[in-house]
Amino acid sequence: MKDRYKLMGHVYDLLSNMYSGRRILHCKESMLDRVRPGDAVLFAGVGHGREAIKAAQSGARVTVVDLSGTMLEKFRKGCEAHTFSHPVRQVHEDILKVPADARYDMVFANFFLNVFERNQMDAVVRHLAALTKPGGYVVVGDFAFPGGNFWARMIQNLYWYIADTLFYLFTRNAFHEIYNYPEYLKKYGLKIADTRYYPIFGLNAYWSVLARKPM
Ligand SMILES: C[S@@+](CC[C@H](N)C(=O)[O-])C[C@H]1O[C@@H](n2cnc3c(N)ncnc32)[C@H](O)[C@@H]1O
Repeated sequence: MKDRYKLMGHVYDLLSNMYSGRRILHCKESMLDRVRPGDAVLFAGVGHGREAIKAAQSGARVTVVDLSGTMLEKFRKGCEAHTFSHPVRQVHEDILKVPADARYDMVFANFFLNVFERNQMDAVVRHLAALTKPGGYVVVGDFAFPGGNFWARMIQNLYWYIADTLFYLFTRNAFHEIYNYPEYLKKYGLKIADTRYYPIFGLNAYWSVLARKPM
């Protein structure tokens, strides 16, 4: 399987910390306070997965999925210094091929859905909802949907398109406008339970959205 993150995978976290002044990191760790020991938690498109390591350290039963061998290798290296009460399951696969058996208490999609073109993103959101237990949660951390006045929205869009262009060129991510993820979560029956913003210079650059699947 082709590894689109063969180059970018090595510097991904460094770049995201530089680009966001560590707001992306804080956004990705945002909903970890909802993870309870023993929970089954899946991280889709885990990348370096610092937040997945923290979830495993807190006693969750963590599964990570990624298409990129380079990203999974980085994740493995990150795990080396830690011991976990449950072994972390690593799956080198397309998320859509992970059986949708509603077995996870929480499914995290941090800066993952933005790699897809709109129809594919829609299909992935549906799949993430199907992976989640009734009463469980899907978390989406990503670029926030632009809001506020004309200038605020313009700067938010510009900020996104700089990143999107870079990833379009280096990893073949889709080139698209910022998605309104809560709309897609609601489309598949989830209820928005919490939204936390991570601003840069007063503008809502990132958000972490917690959505609950009804019982
Ligand atoms: C933009 S990176 C985000 C990585 C990580 N979640 C983070 O926030 O640092 C997107 C990740 O999704 C992975 N990915 C892309 N398409 C995928 C798919 N269909 N199934 C699983 N992983 C995928 C990529 O290999 C990459 O690691």
